[in-house]
Amino acid sequence: MGIEQTETARLRWITLAPAEQTPAGEDVVMGLQQIPKTLPCRYFYDDRGSELFEQICDLPEYYPTRTEEAILEEYATEIAALTGACELVELGSGSSRKTRLLLDAYSQLQSEMQYCPIDVSAGMLRMAALRLLLQYPRLRVCGLAGTYDQALAELPPRGMDNRMLIFLGSTLGNFDPNQCDRFLTQIQQALTPGEFFLLGVDLQKDLAIITAAYNDKLGVTAAFNRNILTHLNRRFGGDFVPERFDHWAPYNVQAHQIEMYLRSHCTQTVTLTQLKVQVSLEPGEVILTEISRKFHLPTLSNDLESHALQPLATWTDPKSWFALLLCQRQCCGSDCP
Ligand code: AVI
Repeated sequence: MGIEQTETARLRWITLAPAEQTPAGEDVVMGLQQIPKTLPCRYFYDDRGSELFEQICDLPEYYPTRTEEAILEEYATEIAALTGACELVELGSGSSRKTRLLLDAYSQLQSEMQYCPIDVSAGMLRMAALRLLLQYPRLRVCGLAGTYDQALAELPPRGMDNRMLIFLGSTLGNFDPNQCDRFLTQIQQALTPGEFFLLGVDLQKDLAIITAAYNDKLGVTAAFNRNILTHLNRRFGGDFVPERFDHWAPYNVQAHQIEMYLRSHCTQTVTLTQLKVQVSLEPGEVILTEISRKFHLPTLSNDLESHALQPLATWTDPKSWFALLLCQRQCCGSDCP
């Protein structure tokens, strides 16, 4: 399964092998050939990018994290009661800060707890796992360093009879509709009928609130956006000068999504030596680095149902800014007894 596996009494560690069919950086080359030029948002998350994202989560303008946290605080016990004892598998776990609320609720229900955090940022994953082991003496952790694609295709054998896949923070919003459809198919295939999927999503609302969340006064989101260039420089021998780009994050009303761009100040040519690629930019030309879609609950519920993921319960905050959906994998076609 992995290229590295280590094990101690309560910690198992798996590093998944990079997908060999896509040579490193091919997605960057393809993105830079598109109009507008595009960079895959997964390159935000080197160690510095993960650190900046943690800072974004604490910004007064960035409401999603604290709103989702408040929903979890209020309803974690209800979620645990609905699923019963189960193993928790979290995609894009980051610092696992919201997961603690679920671990607290599940620890009331079961004597042994099993948690499997999955993240591309191995450093962040390891630190979060060690912290959780100190805090929860009855917890066993199986950390998986890898991409969602890799992890969903190679989930470790379940450590308990039941399992809940967790995908918080509205990361689903960073996928375009095709990627979203593909991702939900992977979730459907990773779960067996009866198992659970807990999903956190940001909802459509007043666009001034959404726009402010991606254009904070301190400029942390701008630094996060520019850091993608620093990461690409290091990774692929590039010579991007991040200061030659502005952060621009307008809301696209038709598509219900924030679009985050880097806008070139001047005429410039950038080389990524290891990718044998050279790109020219005009003044005002943009590179799309991220979309962040905002969801309409009834439409999302239909999408989930069409992937055999039946929403059992939905919780929102009092302003209906954010939602948590608990879905159960239904049997369908060849799954049915
Ligand atoms: C990780 N993801 C859900 C965040 C979002 O809100 O789309 C990433 C982010 N980009 C800028 N601020 C936060």
